[in-house]
Amino acid sequence: MILQWHIIQRCNVRCRHCYQGEYNDNDPTYDQLIHVLDNFTEFVDDLWPGDEHWVRLTGGEPMLHKDWKRLAVEVIQREFTWTLMTNGTLVTPKEADVIAKLEPAHVQVSIDGGEEIHDNIRGSGNLKKVIEGIKNLRANDIDVRVSFTANLLNMEEIPKVVEICNENDVHFFWTDRYIPHSSGTSLGSIGSVELDRYLELIKIERDKFKRNDNLTIISMGRALQFLGGGSPYRCIAGKRLLTILHNGTIMACRRLSNRIGNAYKESIKDIYLNNPLCKALRNPESLNSQCKSCLNVDKCEGGLKCLAKIFTGDPFSGDPACPLIKSTNENSLG
Ligand SMILES: C[S@@+](CC[C@H](N)C(=O)[O-])C[C@H]1O[C@@H](n2cnc3c(N)ncnc32)[C@H](O)[C@@H]1O
Ligand code: SF4
Ligand code: SF4
Repeated sequence: MILQWHIIQRCNVRCRHCYQGEYNDNDPTYDQLIHVLDNFTEFVDDLWPGDEHWVRLTGGEPMLHKDWKRLAVEVIQREFTWTLMTNGTLVTPKEADVIAKLEPAHVQVSIDGGEEIHDNIRGSGNLKKVIEGIKNLRANDIDVRVSFTANLLNMEEIPKVVEICNENDVHFFWTDRYIPHSSGTSLGSIGSVELDRYLELIKIERDKFKRNDNLTIISMGRALQFLGGGSPYRCIAGKRLLTILHNGTIMACRRLSNRIGNAYKESIKDIYLNNPLCKALRNPESLNSQCKSCLNVDKCEGGLKCLAKIFTGDPFSGDPACPLIKSTNENSLG
């Protein structure tokens, strides 16, 4: 099981695309965080004793929480594999040294374009700080993975970001599409019109890796990326993934807007087993008839359910950028 844990809402940055919305809620106390960790431990120990389980610490900016390192120690003591998802701007040499001692499986850092576009989305001077952070992590031999959130403004920047990854010894690059939401400025999400170009851009970089022209692994294992030669992707929300927010809210995935419970008051196990959305996400019969009769359904299982939910209200209506669902998706998803 994977727990994506947004341990804080606050952030030192205000990205244009961010789904986090209000950034000023109180931070959870250490006791509240431990309560959630106990709740999650009980859940996975009951259902899958002895299996490997993952905890991804994120936010907001997780490194702003005063207890984040203490929490990481607790996570490690319970034998979870853990990762840190950070904007990278607070990773000084000293912090990188501490992170290395905590032995994360990897640290994910976000880069959303070359300097001009990244800073347009993430704020002036941001990319330089992120690159410094990456250098500090790499100086400690920490596995760094770059996440690129693709929208209509930054999609063409993929080659520049891969170049930055190469120059800074980043092991792994992955990208998925921006999901519009009620808070934040819409940057336009990639629709069926732009999908081919998006997939082509990733594939060009992946082929360079195959020829040893770049050293960063280019992942093509996200929704619909199999249409461009990538590997199958099946949404894991509510199956192998749960998300918990700073205020205890449980979601099947951070990008799927439904709030399905609260980990401060309810058993995570009960929510996982009994919540109707979680049950539907685990049931292949929930998909709409077009996807169910599609030749690719086993590879795809309806693509990005979060995007489908935003555009149609129904997570099971099929990925809105899918070119095979022609009649409904002829334009960009602005
Ligand atoms: C919410 S951030 C938290 C970690 C850290 N602050 C950062 O920026 O990487 C985690 C990831 O979610 C992505 N993200 C934020 N809003 C998004 C949206 N509306 N659609 C898709 N991804 C989004 C970010 O770009 C980032 O890669
Ligand atoms: S994407 Fe990350 S860095 Fe940007 S505002 Fe959201 S939480 Fe902060
Ligand atoms: S029709 Fe549905 S299952 Fe088939 S490729 Fe498109 S989104 Fe995936």
